[in-house]
Amino acid sequence: MEFNEQLKIYQQMINNELEKYIKKEECLETVLNQSIEYSLINGAKRLRPTLVLATYKLFKEDIEKCMPYAIAIEMIHNFSLIHDDLPGIDNDDFRRGRPTTHKKFNEATAILAGDGLLNNSYIVISEDIKSAEDINEIKRKIKILNEFSIAVDRMIAGEYVDTEYEGKQITKEELEYIHNNKTASLLKISVRMGAILANCREEDLKRVTTYSEKIGLAFQIKDDILSEEGNEEILGKPVGNDKKAGKCTYVSQYGLQGAKDILEKITKEAVEELEIYGEKSKFLRELAIYMQNRVK
Ligand code: IPE
Ligand code: IPE
Ligand code: MG
Ligand code: MG
Repeated sequence: MEFNEQLKIYQQMINNELEKYIKKEECLETVLNQSIEYSLINGAKRLRPTLVLATYKLFKEDIEKCMPYAIAIEMIHNFSLIHDDLPGIDNDDFRRGRPTTHKKFNEATAILAGDGLLNNSYIVISEDIKSAEDINEIKRKIKILNEFSIAVDRMIAGEYVDTEYEGKQITKEELEYIHNNKTASLLKISVRMGAILANCREEDLKRVTTYSEKIGLAFQIKDDILSEEGNEEILGKPVGNDKKAGKCTYVSQYGLQGAKDILEKITKEAVEELEIYGEKSKFLRELAIYMQNRVK
C-alpha cells in the first residue's frame, strides 16, 4: 500500500475513535466540552497516535488493542498546544487555520480545556488497565502509564525552559534539551507505547527508541524551519513568530541551511535504524521522510 493511503487509514481510524470521547450531553459545562471538541476534532495530522499504531504493527497485527493509548497521547498533544498558544506562553492567535482555543472561547476556558484533556488522557489509560486480566499485561500497561507520565512531565519542563530562554543566549546543548523535552518526549513515548504494548523484545525496543528520539528532535527542527520559511496559509499557524518572540530555535542557532542539514542527517539516521526490519518497517521509515518534507 502507498504511504499516503496508509497514513490516511490511520488518521481516519484515530478520528473515528476520538469522536467517541467527545461529551455531547447538555450540562453546565457544555461550553468547556465544546472547547475540547474544538481543539481535538480538526485538521490535525495525528502523527503521535499514528506512531503508536504503526509501531505496534511492526510486531503485531491487532492494532485496535493500542487505541486507548493512541487517543491518550493525542489528548496530551492537544492539551500542550492549547496551553502553548496562550498569551502567557507563545501568545499565538492561529492554529490549524483557525483561531486558537483562547481566541475562539476565552482564556479561562482554554486553560481548563487543556486541564480537561490532560486529565482525560489518564482516564482513558486507566480504564484500559482496569479491564486488563493477565498479570503480565497489567504490568506492561503500568510501565507504560509510568513512562507516559514522565513524558508529559518532560514536555511541560521543555515548555518552561523554552519560554524562560526567550530573547536570551543559549548553548547548543541547552537548545537540544528544550527540543528533546518539549517535543521529542511525546513522539518518543508514542513509539515506545506501541512497542511495549506489542511486547516486543528488548533489543527491538531499543532500536525503535533510537528511531523515536531521532524523529522527535527532527520534528521540532522542521517546526523551527517552517516557522521561518513556511507558507502561513498552508501551515495554518503564524510564520515568523519564533523570530519575533526571540525564540531559541535550530534556525536562530545554526541558520536556515544549518538546521536543514541537521534535519536531513538525523532523519537519515532514523530511517537506517529501522532498515533491519525490511518491508515491515516501510511505513515508519517513510513517515520519517514525510516529517522531514512536510509543509504543515
Ligand atoms: C505542532 O505539532 C507542535 C509541535 C510539537 C511542533 P503538530 O505539527 O503535530 O500539530 P498538529 O496536531 O498536526 O496540528
Ligand atoms: C511545540 O511548541 C511544543 C509543544 C507545544 C509542547 P512550539 O511553540 O514550537 O510549536 P508551535 O509552532 O506553536 O506549533
Ligand atoms: Mg512554544
Ligand atoms: Mg507555539
